[in-house]
Amino acid sequence: MLNQNLLLLNHHDVSELIDNMYEVLFNAIQNSYLLMNQQKAINPPSTLIWYDKPEKKRVIALPAFVGGSIKRPGLKWIASAPNNIKNNLPRASALLVLNDEATGFPVAILEASKISAVRTVLSAIVALEKLHVGKLIQNLGIIGCGYISTQFLIALKKLNWQVESIHIFDQDPDRIQAFQNKFPDQKFYASTTADEVIKQNDVIFLATTAIEPYIFDTSNLNKQIILNISLRDLAPELILGANNIVDHLEHILSSNTSVFLAYEKIKSTSFIQGSIAELILNQLELNSTKPTIFSPMGLGILDIVVGDSIYQAAEKEQYGLNIENFFNGHTS
Ligand SMILES: NC(=O)c1ccc[n+]([C@@H]2O[C@H](COP(=O)([O-])OP(=O)(O)OC[C@H]3O[C@@H](n4cnc5c(N)ncnc54)[C@H](O)[C@@H]3O)[C@@H](O)[C@H]2O)c1
Repeated sequence: MLNQNLLLLNHHDVSELIDNMYEVLFNAIQNSYLLMNQQKAINPPSTLIWYDKPEKKRVIALPAFVGGSIKRPGLKWIASAPNNIKNNLPRASALLVLNDEATGFPVAILEASKISAVRTVLSAIVALEKLHVGKLIQNLGIIGCGYISTQFLIALKKLNWQVESIHIFDQDPDRIQAFQNKFPDQKFYASTTADEVIKQNDVIFLATTAIEPYIFDTSNLNKQIILNISLRDLAPELILGANNIVDHLEHILSSNTSVFLAYEKIKSTSFIQGSIAELILNQLELNSTKPTIFSPMGLGILDIVVGDSIYQAAEKEQYGLNIENFFNGHTS
């Protein structure tokens, strides 16, 4: 029978549900990469509108379908306006629409800024768990002290990782201070340059809003694990000097990322060892004398699996606003 209803989940609903679901969502993300690898998920290129380039304002549509036992089509619609943070507003705002596989009718609309951030940091932790021995990071470096980096530290703690010291850098000193204030029990060292962070740490998390490379010094590379979330900070020479793992080769080469710049330099993808799915399946041969960089373009399938898990939990625990008879249930 047709479900004519539509469930609306606001930021508060989504946040409360996510809070107890990190383990579930981590597994869902790992599974979504494997489903994609088995051709059981459809992840078409996203559509991006740069509607104000000087102000770096953009909106992106990410449609996707996840098959297997999930069977969920949907769409994330996410806007970014980096200057929002000057007005104390988040940079990104987003909606996620989940559709019913059988009828195609939308069943839920979720506020998705946190879904987007959490799926992003969990995808980085999926890679980290495969690349790092044990769950204790001695020296973590964070470049870009914004929302995504905040969610990264929260997710690490939720998934029982321990971090001894954290070196942080941001071009805006106020952001460094605000970031430290969010984690009063954590020991931080504020670095004066991004290069210093790269040099001094074993694991580096990049989450800035830079649109072109500003990290050029290849002499700071040794065997770090670099989680390249913001995608555009590293000069192509650093990418070419490392093992590289991506989430989706065509997607990462379709945009002006550091990986794309590296590809442009040598007109070959030989510097990319493989995909995150292959990493999960232990199918990659990595050079142990080089750093390893994970560059995820960020796939719509991650939003779908995370949104779907939250939707299931919301139905069970009666969260959200259910709008009855939202859709037309008749052919006339
Ligand atoms: N790959 C993915 O799947 C994915 C998903 C979501 C977000 N992102 C990216 O993550 C990035 C961070 O997002 P956010 O929501 O945390 O943004 P944010 O605006 O909250 O924080 C970004 C921070 O980076 C700092 N910054 C900008 N340029 C810098 C530079 N050159 N050097 C040092 N610091 C710099 C800013 O001052 C700011 O504090 C964005 O680029 C976003 O597009 C990637």
